[in-house]
Amino acid sequence: MRILAIETSCDETSCAIVDDGRIVQSNIIASSKGAFERSGGVIPEDAARQQITCIIPVIEQALEEAKTKKEEIDAVAVTSGPGLLGSLIVGTTTARMIANAWGKPLLGIHHTLGHLSSTWLLHKHEPRSDAPRFPILTLSASGGHTELWLRHSHTRGQLLGRTRDDAAGEAFDKGANLLGLPYPGGPAIARVAAEGNAQATSFPSPLRGVPGYDFSFSGIKTALRTAMREHPEGSTADLAASFQEAICRHLLDRTANALTTYAVREIHLVGGVSANERLRAMCAERCEHAVIRTPLSLHWCTDNAAMIAAAAEFLWREIPNAHKRNVVVNASIPLESAMETVENER
Ligand code: KG4
Ligand code: ZN
Repeated sequence: MRILAIETSCDETSCAIVDDGRIVQSNIIASSKGAFERSGGVIPEDAARQQITCIIPVIEQALEEAKTKKEEIDAVAVTSGPGLLGSLIVGTTTARMIANAWGKPLLGIHHTLGHLSSTWLLHKHEPRSDAPRFPILTLSASGGHTELWLRHSHTRGQLLGRTRDDAAGEAFDKGANLLGLPYPGGPAIARVAAEGNAQATSFPSPLRGVPGYDFSFSGIKTALRTAMREHPEGSTADLAASFQEAICRHLLDRTANALTTYAVREIHLVGGVSANERLRAMCAERCEHAVIRTPLSLHWCTDNAAMIAAAAEFLWREIPNAHKRNVVVNASIPLESAMETVENER
């Protein structure tokens, strides 16, 4: 199938055309992140306004780059939640209009299911590589969520743990704000951390000794604030490096822990934070015998429509009536309601 997908859950406006859930014919992303550099985070009304301005040109460009006519599109997919309500409404309204005008089925896709599908994507001019094989342990970490999933198929899985407070990307964003670095914080901290010493400041290991696979980042953020207050002369690079190290260590402590309990074929790191090079390197060290996959392009780690097209294809394959469901915008829907969750399957 050739799917046209739209993703507007936050401050990216994206449209992609993807074949068979894997081959990315085009993936156009317009980001309004630059507008929020100084505010330290997204202002929802401004993000929605940007979505309205960008959406039509982005769709036109995606069709043009894929050299695709509407007759060649089999279905339209759109992120229906979670995300910022105003931004989601712009994407879903546009997708519904296109689907109706062109007479195509419309699928509403959970944003996180998109991230979970991003490791299937391939560049159109590169040879096909083998598809990932289930069962898969997926760490999905972004600005809006941090979850560890044991997956048996695209739509069947067990949520092993999730963050109890901030998301990992949110912790990077708030940490950057404290350090006087621009939004988005993850890339900014990674850049500065490259010049710093990750052992310079010691940070707590959250939830140590607490069984299960939940995450917590508020203690690491508080420790950064304390370190800055107690040592105002401290180097920003050293603090950034130690802070990044603590977040990555916590993410991987929980992931490696799950590996000792569950037999999986692969580990996937997805979501905006999976773009982090230190996280990838630490994962390779900690899980050296595992098959580790991250999205092949950094553009597929952060928000993009290609992953939504992939998720739509897989959802339709596994749930044949998926395209008959109503597309309902829900700004805070958990992934469990879009997945068939399996409890305690090993
Ligand atoms: O998946 P995403 O684009 O949007 C959400 O679904 O939230 O993730 C954005 C988050 C931001 O918090 C950003 O700081 C973080 O991902 N991020 C990174 C990196 N690139 C983006 N965090 C750490 N290292 C990076 N290189
Ligand atoms: Zn995302």
